[in-house]
Amino acid sequence: MSRKVDFLVVGSGIAGLTFATKAAQYSQVLILTKKNKADSNTNYAQGGIASVFADRDSFDYHANDTVKAGEGLSHKDAVRIMVENGPKLVRELYNEGCLFTLDNQGDFELGREGGHSHRRIVHAKDYTGYEIERVLLEEAKRRNVEISENEIALDLIVVDGECLGLYFFDANKQKLDYILANATVLATGGTGQVYLHTTNPPIATGDGIAMAYRAGAKVANMEFVQFHPTSVYNIQIDGRAFLISEAVRGEGGILKTKSGKSFMDKYDPAGNLAPRDIVARACVSEMRATKSKYVLLDISHINADYLKKRFPTIYETCLKWGVDITREPIPVVPAAHYTCGGILVNTWAESSINRLFALGECSCTGVHGANRLASNSLLEALVFSTRASEKAKEIKEIKVKTTMCMQKTACTGPDYRLQIKQIMNQYVGVMRNVKGLEKAHRSISDFCTKFDDGVLIQNAEARNIADIAILIVKSAIMRLESRGLHYIREYPEKKKDFAKDTIIRRKES
Ligand code: FAD
Ligand code: SIN
Repeated sequence: MSRKVDFLVVGSGIAGLTFATKAAQYSQVLILTKKNKADSNTNYAQGGIASVFADRDSFDYHANDTVKAGEGLSHKDAVRIMVENGPKLVRELYNEGCLFTLDNQGDFELGREGGHSHRRIVHAKDYTGYEIERVLLEEAKRRNVEISENEIALDLIVVDGECLGLYFFDANKQKLDYILANATVLATGGTGQVYLHTTNPPIATGDGIAMAYRAGAKVANMEFVQFHPTSVYNIQIDGRAFLISEAVRGEGGILKTKSGKSFMDKYDPAGNLAPRDIVARACVSEMRATKSKYVLLDISHINADYLKKRFPTIYETCLKWGVDITREPIPVVPAAHYTCGGILVNTWAESSINRLFALGECSCTGVHGANRLASNSLLEALVFSTRASEKAKEIKEIKVKTTMCMQKTACTGPDYRLQIKQIMNQYVGVMRNVKGLEKAHRSISDFCTKFDDGVLIQNAEARNIADIAILIVKSAIMRLESRGLHYIREYPEKKKDFAKDTIIRRKES
């Protein structure tokens, strides 16, 4: 391709598409995406998008709930921006054709999820992400955004502190190439595939975070990996664990041990709707105590017709596997779900490298702090991607000699991803301990040394997984306390000295 564009976006989930559809109104935008354009975490989002619509709700309530879940690390300015911009942007999605579920009055039907003091989850039954992805892809087509599929971004081109574009592997032509851009926008999503058991699809290998880290960007709060308490036990579809939405607990679902005893009231006054970190740890504790490989999620006491209408995907999918959720409980386990940390950005989504933006799950705006409140992720992506599209108007033309760019050599590397996933599951999961973290650090560092410094065209994802794993482990070792999603057995309390972000930047840069 070897071309130059105004804005080069990597990723076609909610973040990349939101930026692209807005920026395309005043500039030329190219999206590279590594598989099919709808292949993203966004496409699988179930519960919904949190925003203030209920009469009794307010921005203060939503902001307070978000900050409370964040356990002292949420950036309050970013939180405020997110909650205040939410309703307008959610309504815009609806006006663009998103078929959000409406109540009898024609208003958004608002769901409930853990940690939210009010009903505020706008949803399209239990397939909200699919609906958002569908509408944004249509919008991108309408606005002539060019989307190039099967293009794998590999490494950023950074010269004198400025990002000039990136190298990518064109899987259609099987060739290494580069693109220059006035601004490069990483919207590559999460890192769930660093773990064996994850709700994230195979694209979620943390490529954007790994690329930005290798290029010298600041990366923050990687220890805060969110484990969703309820993914279906022992069944995978296309490389991901199937999620049972938190909205199921919002509508009355109860967590029980294998022998049918409900347990969440023991752990938190909010019971089954406690924040996710608490629920995930409770599930693991109960599984250990009862020597069981799963716990049960029971919603069978709720009206069957209502369940089929409210959760059609969950109902149909479980039924295919022989579980009728209207009659029996679902065996569930926690699974790696969401990356609260990422490429550190300001409230305009600008990273610490000039001309490099980061959006959505690969970024760290600071909104989520030490734990993300359910359904705040789609909202964060929507709000800060919109702001980035406004900020990007100020970007000036780059001046660059193309000869600077093809100096890198293509190389291949080993594939240790299975070994790394096993280590991460064993030592860097819901509950951690110092010895385990150190062991993980040693083994994964060892794998990292096996990769050359060139642009990898084979096993690029494996190197990204190794880089992300080491970032998570290092950040976890740096935080000798327990806070939000990071629980370390020897240091079970929160400590004042650690009430700050964990920021890592590659030494060589
Ligand atoms: P994604 O949607 O993951 O998009 C990333 C894009 O980048 C993809 O197109 C991918 O192919 C591309 N990409 C990655 N690497 C490269 C590369 N090297 N080169 C080229 N392209 C690349 N959040 C909520 O708020 N509410 C919910 O109800 C909810 N439910 C969820 C349910 C599930 C099962 C999962 C997995 C997540 C859920 N989340 C939910 C989280 C939320 O869906 C994600 O955080 C959000 O969709 C991330 O959007 P994104 O645009 O940042 O990334
Ligand atoms: C869910 O539906 O439980 C997922 C919601 C989220 O991750 O925010």
